Amino acid sequence: MSEESSTWYKDAVFYELYIRAFADGNGDGKGDFAGLTARLDYLQELGVDCIWLLPMYGSPLLDDGYDIADFYAIHPDYGTLADFCTFIAAAHARGLRVIVDLVLNHTSDQHPWFQASRRCQEPYTDYYVWSKTGQEYANARIIFLDSEPSNWTFDPLRGEYYWHRFFFHQPDLNYDNPAVQAEMLRVMRYWLDLGIDGFRADAVPYLFERAGTNCENLPETHAFLRRVRAVADTEYPGKILLAEANQWPEDVRPYFGGDPVDPCLPGDEFNLGFHFPVMPRLYMALRQHDRSAIVDILQRTPPIPGNCQWCTFLRNHDELTLEMVTEEERQYLWREYAPEPRMRLNLGIRRRLAPLVDNDRRRIELLNSLLFTLPGSPIIYYGDEIGMGDNIWLPDRNGVRTPMQWDDGPNAGFSTSPAESLYAPVITAPPYDYACINVAAQRADPGSLLHTIRHFIQVRKLHPVFGRGDLCFLLGPPRPVLAFLRSYGGATLLALHNLSDGRQSCALDLSAFIGQVPCDLLNDATLPAIGAGPYAVELPAYGYRWLGI
Ligand code: BGC
Repeated sequence: MSEESSTWYKDAVFYELYIRAFADGNGDGKGDFAGLTARLDYLQELGVDCIWLLPMYGSPLLDDGYDIADFYAIHPDYGTLADFCTFIAAAHARGLRVIVDLVLNHTSDQHPWFQASRRCQEPYTDYYVWSKTGQEYANARIIFLDSEPSNWTFDPLRGEYYWHRFFFHQPDLNYDNPAVQAEMLRVMRYWLDLGIDGFRADAVPYLFERAGTNCENLPETHAFLRRVRAVADTEYPGKILLAEANQWPEDVRPYFGGDPVDPCLPGDEFNLGFHFPVMPRLYMALRQHDRSAIVDILQRTPPIPGNCQWCTFLRNHDELTLEMVTEEERQYLWREYAPEPRMRLNLGIRRRLAPLVDNDRRRIELLNSLLFTLPGSPIIYYGDEIGMGDNIWLPDRNGVRTPMQWDDGPNAGFSTSPAESLYAPVITAPPYDYACINVAAQRADPGSLLHTIRHFIQVRKLHPVFGRGDLCFLLGPPRPVLAFLRSYGGATLLALHNLSDGRQSCALDLSAFIGQVPCDLLNDATLPAIGAGPYAVELPAYGYRWLGI
């Protein structure tokens, strides 16, 4: 296998998909594997490479499946194990890979391990983190600030407190117990044996707890995660692991493993890691008409091993997290993007991409262009490729998890069930109503957002420089312009973005490329040859260009 094909994920475009929301195959009002399998042609046509599935396991669904009660079952709402296997085979037959969520940190309180642990039944007594006082680890922050007053909850049955970094009904597993480690490796093997292509590993910074620390990113946690990778590499070569570690770049760097000083040595922890801090800064730069926030965070991002890749995103199934910004920046982003209290959740904003930018097609495209041209593998959140809206009247993060809008028929083509049986109402309020925003309409319209995103994907696939190129900012143009070069294997991409609502003229120093004739990768137009002086390019309001040099 060539180096490039063994690191396919560096060139990949990911598509994050919530099974419940995507397509209902049996008419019960909830999305399922049968419905999803029947819609795979759409994803193939869109051109994405890898689907990331939100949890599909046995669960009381108090955290949409991140509260797992049975790691070995498919949730009956989604179908059977056979339906899951049919889906995997159908995806593979279309050249689509599939990764699934692996929730290592916690289970549901309904999990039989927790029920046995509450009763001190062996061998489960120490499967969770128990305390007589609930006073330990006071330096650990609370993540779900709007709903949880503490990381400890008292269990009257055992007469002790249990530790949980998320909802009180999601007790954290005790990784100091070797039996827990073995259980989770078994879970991992089970799903890899069924043919999936890897995992998005949920909430990995919090596996171990140690007194006097903030209980995040501990050496013990990294040691276990490297064990996970070793199992994957040895027993399932070619499978990938994507880390969800919502941390500053220098704290995410160790999740790639390898040598902290020498980036030439290969990573041995995660193949991929989300770049959380860059995401809110894309929105900040756009609002401030100033590239600085993006430049600063990427200049602060340490190099990662050559066999690793960042994953970038504009939105996902959670609130748009503002944990990795300063307090002042958070207040600014809340003010600008979430003026109503209902739009806020914990330290974030529970809105989708299109409403965040007032449904302004130019800004939606600009943000996507940044996503596709900056370093990292982009992840598209289902529905954002057609500019779906949200429903801020639904609780928690449900407002960004509404049914996929396929057409203007009943229930947006999502389900044949009566409307009152849908797991969540379809969006009917203009301008995001499904009569207006849907796949069928955008498929038929060559000028639609769907076609633009599809085109972005197609162009990206033709040029390895997008996934593999290094990054060099051109800081000569005015601050509303984000200009950068990406270079790989003799090819160079010059990406230009105008973050402002006015026209911008750039005079670029391209003296390293004198005599070259840039080509616009998005429309194949040829630009004037690069001469000795500054190279002039005009950008309309929120304009962007992808130039091959
Ligand atoms: C997931 C959330 C979930 C939490 C607890 C997060 O990282 O993305 O949706 O609520 O983990 O499992």
